[in-house]
Amino acid sequence: MRADLDTRTAGRPERLAIAPMTATDIRAVMRIEALSFTTSWPPSAFQSELADNKLAHYFVGRLGDPLSGELVAYGGIWVILEDSHITTLAVHPDWRAKRYGEEMLVHLLHEAISRKASWITLEARESNVVAQNLYRKYGFTTVSTRRAYYSDNGEDAVVMWAGNLRGDLYRNRLASLERTLSNEIARRR
Ligand SMILES: CC(C)(COP(=O)(O)OP(=O)(O)OC[C@H]1O[C@@H](n2cnc3c(N)ncnc32)[C@H](O)[C@@H]1OP(=O)(O)O)[C@@H](O)C(=O)NCCC(=O)NCCS
Repeated sequence: MRADLDTRTAGRPERLAIAPMTATDIRAVMRIEALSFTTSWPPSAFQSELADNKLAHYFVGRLGDPLSGELVAYGGIWVILEDSHITTLAVHPDWRAKRYGEEMLVHLLHEAISRKASWITLEARESNVVAQNLYRKYGFTTVSTRRAYYSDNGEDAVVMWAGNLRGDLYRNRLASLERTLSNEIARRR
């Protein structure tokens, strides 16, 4: 089906409307969380991240109206001086493979860079090839493995890392990927 004939996307703006996550977003975030992760965070984890963790920066992505549109993606980072850590990133299963995950990741990378982070890291399940592909596309490499990191099934985590975020090389790569992303988003609508 052509994207412009899909009633769910017809008339939508080209980009995700990304804004800081608020307490009122947590209910919708929890629905995506439950559909996305075997072991999901409880609502209290998001509440405490938003209310108590000054190093944490969480965002939601909506379709349509920036305040009331459908919440389809969220992500978060911690920034501690020059270090940053992606703590979570998810897209509602109905809206995957439409570049919304990539848009949210780009937003998190800019947030890290604007807060003067020089490097960024994350853990992903060894079996999560989709997420690893996305991160590799944005310059992350696998630097180590955490054995049996996930308590639900004993799966290993891969630790991925991207460095020198504020250097010309990384900024040029990011700018080039963003140009391609914008063209793809324009084509898909
Ligand atoms: C990982 C996730 C956020 C990706 O979001 P998405 O919107 O579906 O992905 P996008 O459409 O933005 O795709 C961007 C890139 O991701 C990778 N990717 C996406 N879907 C893929 C698939 N089915 N197979 C392989 N790679 C895939 C590709 O690298 C793709 O870029 P490319 O098409 O140029 O190669 C989403 O799949 C998700 O929410 N998964 C469950 C939660 C999760 O695993 N979060 C990550 C925790 S570390």
